[in-house]
Amino acid sequence: MAEVKLPKLVVLTGAGVSAESGIKTYRDAGGLWENYPVMEVASAAGFNRNPALIHDFYNARRAELVKAQPNDAHRALAELEKWYDVTVITQNVDNLHERAGSSNVLHLHGELMKIRSMKHPERVCELTPDNLTTSLDTRDPYGDPVRPHIVFFQEAVPNIEPAAKLMEQADVVVIIGTSMAVYPAAGLIHYARRGVPVYYIDPRPVPVPDGITVLPVKATEGMRQLIEILRPKP
Ligand code: OAD
Repeated sequence: MAEVKLPKLVVLTGAGVSAESGIKTYRDAGGLWENYPVMEVASAAGFNRNPALIHDFYNARRAELVKAQPNDAHRALAELEKWYDVTVITQNVDNLHERAGSSNVLHLHGELMKIRSMKHPERVCELTPDNLTTSLDTRDPYGDPVRPHIVFFQEAVPNIEPAAKLMEQADVVVIIGTSMAVYPAAGLIHYARRGVPVYYIDPRPVPVPDGITVLPVKATEGMRQLIEILRPKP
């Protein structure tokens, strides 16, 4: 029997997709960057100046994450795998897409539940739920000091090339809950082929190029609407 080739759906998500799970966004009123000095807690220079502060910042993020559950928007993206070959490119460091059942998730800015050796950056380990706190004294299984597996400002984004390739192959693009303020992630949209339908769900959308369909609602409501749009027609 001939293999059925599903259309490729590429999704770019930002903090807004996890907002209804209780995870704080960065740039909204009351967001993380209003309460923490971004260049101290999220940059390479900040990590060199005060690594303990950054360990603490990400310890707090993990504590928030383990209490959170995927929401209906995460679940709807997983459900779309019935009809589409879905890849989620996420700027988020949480694991809510995976926990909702999405099979293909590419993290652009790292992953909260992982740590990386300071001496051998290719050595990445998963944290276990009973041990989510890291400090200057934390060692990986090889005895090396570790850092959060997070892409800091001033560092390269290793997954940007595979992400751009995925965008070029997309038959449909969906963008959810991002202020499109951080490059190179925000530039990915320009890799979509001309004529490919692009949908953008965000209750406070930023200006986007003509031709993009904007759904100016929260992620869960936007995904409810989008499922109806993307459902294959009989
Ligand atoms: P931002 O905090 O910049 O933007 C969050 C977006 O989510 C805004 O456009 C909000 O309007 C939208 N939003 C809020 N509630 C929503 C909801 N319920 N449903 C849908 N959208 C909602 O977050 P990002 O664009 O993800 O990087 O930020 C990009 C990067 O900046 C992050 O990955 C992080 C940060 O610095 C690093 O730390 C490396």
